Amino acid sequence: MDIKSCGTGTIINLARKRNIAVPGFNIPYLPMMEPVIRALCDTRTFGLIMVARLEWIKFGSGSMKAVRDEYLKLKDERFTRLHLDHVPVIDEDNLLTDFTGIISEALDLGYGSVMIDGSRLTLEENIEATGKVVEMAHRAGVPVEAELGAVMGHEAGPLPPYEELFATGKGFTSPEDAGRFIAETGADWLSVAIGNVHGAISAATRTGKKIEARLAIDHLEKIDKAAGVPLVLHGGTGISKKYLMESFRHGIAKINIATAIRQPYEKLIMNPVREAQEAVYETMVDLLRNELDVAGSADIIFNGIKTQNLRI
Ligand code: 13P
Repeated sequence: MDIKSCGTGTIINLARKRNIAVPGFNIPYLPMMEPVIRALCDTRTFGLIMVARLEWIKFGSGSMKAVRDEYLKLKDERFTRLHLDHVPVIDEDNLLTDFTGIISEALDLGYGSVMIDGSRLTLEENIEATGKVVEMAHRAGVPVEAELGAVMGHEAGPLPPYEELFATGKGFTSPEDAGRFIAETGADWLSVAIGNVHGAISAATRTGKKIEARLAIDHLEKIDKAAGVPLVLHGGTGISKKYLMESFRHGIAKINIATAIRQPYEKLIMNPVREAQEAVYETMVDLLRNELDVAGSADIIFNGIKTQNLRI
């Protein structure tokens, strides 16, 4: 297989078939991209380089174009693709965005996959907005990730008590809605809410330790059956390995990681940039090898060969 010309949609489908998750890493500051890509290459792991709208608005990544330009300098297509994360229809501050304008710019810039986040809308409105984006992206041959249910954590106010959230299943993706949503929108991947929460992003809370979330695996199994497309786990930082491994066996083919690599970078942000980059690199290698257990995944995804625990 010609790996370098393989589209992101094909790669995620292959990963799902092999019960492997492709990790996506958010880049809130441009210098983080170098150690993220270096760690993926050194461990022969396949991963996505991602930026979300809030990361060029509330953090330091600049713009979608700045991230694309940095990616073009650093990419290694044996191990990486570029993905546009969260483009909300209604944003974290409850404001309506120009989501079609943003998606259209991303397609022009050459992003290999895009996410539309209509999760703050009603089901009907989410279907309508997602359908619009699917039409635009598919015309360009680009797969679309959508979200159904509420993966909380990015809102300004405090999170409801986690135990209560998990016990009541508040905001969890409904399996019935998931089936209808995919059938009516044609979205390629579905981001699900099954107990996962995003790391905090407000200036006051973003340095704090993230809560250890759990995953309702039985609920995930129902969504997997109903949706029938690769599923995406947002809020990937700090979920215990036992839950992660189970989720990879039940449809999760992409997992998003931001807080775990952003916090070590921000801790050293006043130091020489090389020191902050090395902290990201070390965190990345540990994540890939030990927390996510995906080191060597490029060989597994493309050739079905298991070459884990590579020494670098
Ligand atoms: P974490 O910050 O919990 O890693 O979540 C990242 C995420 O889901 C970005 O879309």
